Amino acid sequence: MNYEVNKEAEKSEGSNKIYWAYREMPVLALIRERFKKGKPLAGINISGCLHITTETANLAITLKEGGARVALCASNPLSTCDEVAHSLVKDHDISVFAVYGESREMYYRHAHQTLDNIPHITMDDGGDLVSTIHKERKELMETILGGTEETTTGVHRFENMEREGVLKYPIIAVNDAYTKYLFDNRYGTGQSTIDGIIRATNILLAGKRFVVGGYGWCGRGVAMRARGMGAHVMVTEVDPTRALEAVMDGFDVLPMERAAQQGDIFVTTTGNTSIICERHFKIMKDGAILANSGHFNVEIDVEALEEMSVQRNEIRQHVEEFTLEDGRKIYILGQGRLVNLAAAEGHPAAVMDLSFANQALCAEYIVKHHSELENRVIKVPEHIDGKIAELKLSTMNIKIDVLTQEQKDYMSSWRVGT
Ligand code: ADE
Repeated sequence: MNYEVNKEAEKSEGSNKIYWAYREMPVLALIRERFKKGKPLAGINISGCLHITTETANLAITLKEGGARVALCASNPLSTCDEVAHSLVKDHDISVFAVYGESREMYYRHAHQTLDNIPHITMDDGGDLVSTIHKERKELMETILGGTEETTTGVHRFENMEREGVLKYPIIAVNDAYTKYLFDNRYGTGQSTIDGIIRATNILLAGKRFVVGGYGWCGRGVAMRARGMGAHVMVTEVDPTRALEAVMDGFDVLPMERAAQQGDIFVTTTGNTSIICERHFKIMKDGAILANSGHFNVEIDVEALEEMSVQRNEIRQHVEEFTLEDGRKIYILGQGRLVNLAAAEGHPAAVMDLSFANQALCAEYIVKHHSELENRVIKVPEHIDGKIAELKLSTMNIKIDVLTQEQKDYMSSWRVGT
């Protein structure tokens, strides 16, 4: 079996970490039990480009229990937990090509090595496997049945491919399932982003002016949790409806040009490029702290900040201090990469349980239904999404009401009015 992981992680207890996450993933555990017996993925090769965390490890083990041959690479150079990667290789016989801090060159070499698994299914988080296949490994399309995509940015890339008519196999947009984005993007990003900022800096959030760039589901989560910590939260947006929602959720809404002058802490969550750049650095307060929680490291223009600076210093793990000519200091966390994974451990397992239940069930769906799927970005089937919510509630021991026959009849008729 081929693999490349950090050898120094050999003596670590990756398996305990994986077990600890598993305790919080009861829906995935139910799926694993069923997969173990039925082997719905027998003979299927799955190549995944995902953050190599304890939660991803549990997904990979579940897919393997279902009969799949799994190979993994990292979907971000700073999101690999080396102990976990090592344990997957050593304890579970799963090919992993991922090393924390890998260079761009190594990142893409690992993507290619993961594709050498000759996948029937690709599992992306950000779209790098699918784009590599479409650009450089076209021969693999012959055997691919379909793929899944974990995150908003990846779904957006694939929608662009579909619009240009270049998408050559079906992709299920796991991100767009209700049981994914309403929980992972909102509560997961909310908690883990605050976690990353606090682990990196150990600063008090109460009373700070906290700017959130973007009011999508991730931005909402971050804004909500920052407010919960006592910060004064300000939101920047380009979409009028979202901006209005932020206003009515009780946040100050203003353009980044103005927020830049006021903020103590900034978090970008837009999925777009150049949210904070040179013109903003010029007017920021001394000591401003900047972090990104969007998928790619394009939201904060770290290169421009470097060019404007007379000094760049790592003063604490995951905290770089940039000194500008006028003496002001600006701090960048996690090199402007996903702060929740670079400086913390990503979303907690209880929300990844929902996301990865979707991934596992969508892999099974692709195996059963690939011949009916068009080469498009496809929604997660409603019955899968609904089932995951139902299972999660039952594992939390929460009961809900069911419709009576009278209520069902009422809801399906139009005759009864005022
Ligand atoms: N994305 C965000 N958090 C994650 C986690 N804990 N595992 C895998 N992918 C993630």
